[in-house]
Amino acid sequence: MQPALSVPWRATARKKNLLLTIPGLCHTGTVNRIQRIGLLTGGGDAPGLNAVVRGVVKAAINSYGIRVFGFYDAFRGLVRGKGKWLHWNNVSGILTQGGTILGTTNRDNPFHYVDNHRRPERTRDASGDVVRNYRKLKLDALIAVGGDGTLQCSCRMSGLGLRIVGVPKTIDNDVRGTDLTFGFNTAVTTATEAIDKLHSTAASHHRVMLVEVMGRTAGWLALTSGVAGGADVILIPEIPYRLDAVCAKIMHRNRSGKRFSIVVVSEGARAVDGEIVVRDRVAGSFEQVRLGGISAILARQIEGRTGLETRYTILGHLQRGGTPTPFDRFLATRFATAAVEMVTSGQFNRMVSLRGDTVTSVPLSIPGCAPRLVSPRSQDIRMARSIGTCFGDE
Ligand code: F6P
Repeated sequence: MQPALSVPWRATARKKNLLLTIPGLCHTGTVNRIQRIGLLTGGGDAPGLNAVVRGVVKAAINSYGIRVFGFYDAFRGLVRGKGKWLHWNNVSGILTQGGTILGTTNRDNPFHYVDNHRRPERTRDASGDVVRNYRKLKLDALIAVGGDGTLQCSCRMSGLGLRIVGVPKTIDNDVRGTDLTFGFNTAVTTATEAIDKLHSTAASHHRVMLVEVMGRTAGWLALTSGVAGGADVILIPEIPYRLDAVCAKIMHRNRSGKRFSIVVVSEGARAVDGEIVVRDRVAGSFEQVRLGGISAILARQIEGRTGLETRYTILGHLQRGGTPTPFDRFLATRFATAAVEMVTSGQFNRMVSLRGDTVTSVPLSIPGCAPRLVSPRSQDIRMARSIGTCFGDE
């Protein structure tokens, strides 16, 4: 344990107005001197990850004189001790880039680690390697940027003595404890643009057009892009649908002269009497089941029932790519600088969180904690119903 020092740079930084004030964080005036921190990006990539990397490195160096070690490929880099010290020039020019310069993976859980993915049945507990490499680099803390899996793993790691601050990321927007994750706004923009484009071809051909979006078991992406794109039917995992109700809505539109319909389907949507459609299974990863493909099945069923020509488009990983929107760049930078501030003020084993328009912090989520889902009785669902959107349940 390092001695608690009063730090002169803190006074200078405060004078320069460089320090943020995060509600929920207590400032004691003295902090353990933090000199080196680790940084990793984990889980499926999301637009804005590079903005976080840049924000962390710049704030750490500029405001606090802290060195940042970037681990490659999420916890895999920590297990293997692979990464590099990040300097100003490493993060220059990356704000607008999608992806992450550190690399990521959504298949490596250090507690069930697969050394060789060609032999996924052989897993081992590699958490000891993580602790060893953290200590070897003399890190004072780790900033882990990720979704559910990464954050819950970080919580377990904190039980082994690592001092961790989490930053919530995901296009799914399903992390419990925050109103918003960065990456979501860009994914919504991408999905909405796609829906807009499919609108004109659907109208010209008088077709039913299904657009499948990601989101795992949460319907945030489908709901938001569906409403923004003027979808007639939105199917989300939280509201199981009846095929009858979906077809009735489409036929009602048809009879009233609207000869096309747009149906936005979340990859996790399922019929009242049906199963969720699994695309893939990945051993050893936090989330072993990968979803996708419901729109292909549903398109056949709708065409069979209504006799209307029906097509489907699965947007897939397009939603994770591309340059982050200004909103996501701003949010990612707020989260990054807040995370550095939390490290320097000793607020460990917590996650940066957005509540309303305020950045605050909450404890890291406990493994097994359910994702944040859309409430079927929420204001947003009522709003969508009030303009005639069908969720397939009535
Ligand atoms: O969590 C982000 C996400 O894009 C989900 O929306 C989707 O279900 C999953 O990751 C896809 O994972 P993969 O990249 O392994 O196909």
